[in-house]
Amino acid sequence: MSVTIEALTPGFVGEVSGIDTTRPLTAAQVSAIEAGMDRYAVLVYRDQRLTDEQQKAFSLCFGALEQAVGGNVTKAADRRLDPYMADVSNLGVDHKPLARDDRRRLFNLGNRLWHSDSSFRAIPAKYSLLSGRIVAESGGNTEFADMRAAYDALDDAAKAEIAGLVCEHSLLYSRGTLGFSDLSDEEKQMFRPVRQSLVRVHPVTGRKSLYLSSHIGTIAGWPVPEARAFIRDLTEHAVQPRFTYAHTWRPFDLVMWDNRSTMHRVRRFDETQVRDMRRTTVAGDSMTAAQLAA
Ligand code: OGA
Ligand code: MN
Repeated sequence: MSVTIEALTPGFVGEVSGIDTTRPLTAAQVSAIEAGMDRYAVLVYRDQRLTDEQQKAFSLCFGALEQAVGGNVTKAADRRLDPYMADVSNLGVDHKPLARDDRRRLFNLGNRLWHSDSSFRAIPAKYSLLSGRIVAESGGNTEFADMRAAYDALDDAAKAEIAGLVCEHSLLYSRGTLGFSDLSDEEKQMFRPVRQSLVRVHPVTGRKSLYLSSHIGTIAGWPVPEARAFIRDLTEHAVQPRFTYAHTWRPFDLVMWDNRSTMHRVRRFDETQVRDMRRTTVAGDSMTAAQLAA
């Protein structure tokens, strides 16, 4: 079966057909998907009834997997999924919605802020693959913003102003924005800020994009309030409706995005209902900026 990709949003989101993600892929299929990812930045596959093992196997076609260490789950006994699956559901190990004040739930609320996955890691993620096993009946859309288009739309003066800027990203900043500060000393150490270029160049297409994320806390060399005000302005620009797509989940959708050229966020939903969403993350292969010596 040959792979076809139909545009849902011109040049940004494509819907893939002719792929069964539960089955091993041929090299030609992998190349077709990678080409699709480079052309679009978000790909949607419908009706993919994946097990966790199949989701990991499919994701591994595109690179090594990131381990979901740190973050929402701090105790091994609280971990519902294996270490390579990021649990972005609202569920505990008993498969029931988490209590309102559960730390895991409060931590995951950070996903409601526009972000790029793992931008708080020195080598940030390449792709994310999110499988909707049980989707919200209403609400719970995932929205995506095209950071290439957002960059392209800046005027020359703005492009000159941001060229060469380096931002500091940390989970402590995005969680701090929501007033979440329940972090151990070990986590604070693990999530100390990393540096990322504000303008990224895609390794295959050469297209530039804005590398924004709610994990940003400052711009290297800038006073913090000025940096935060500036990043807010840029983010407001980047998430205008003309640059975004809202994904309304159907059961067993698999959505794959390139974190190097997009941001995303989840919208509110009724959290007394089960929303079982499982993410695998394909690791990146390089830093975007030099890090400070430890
Ligand atoms: C993620 C994420 C959004 C969602 O998986 O990285 O931000 O829709 N999730 O749950
Ligand atoms: Mn995310």
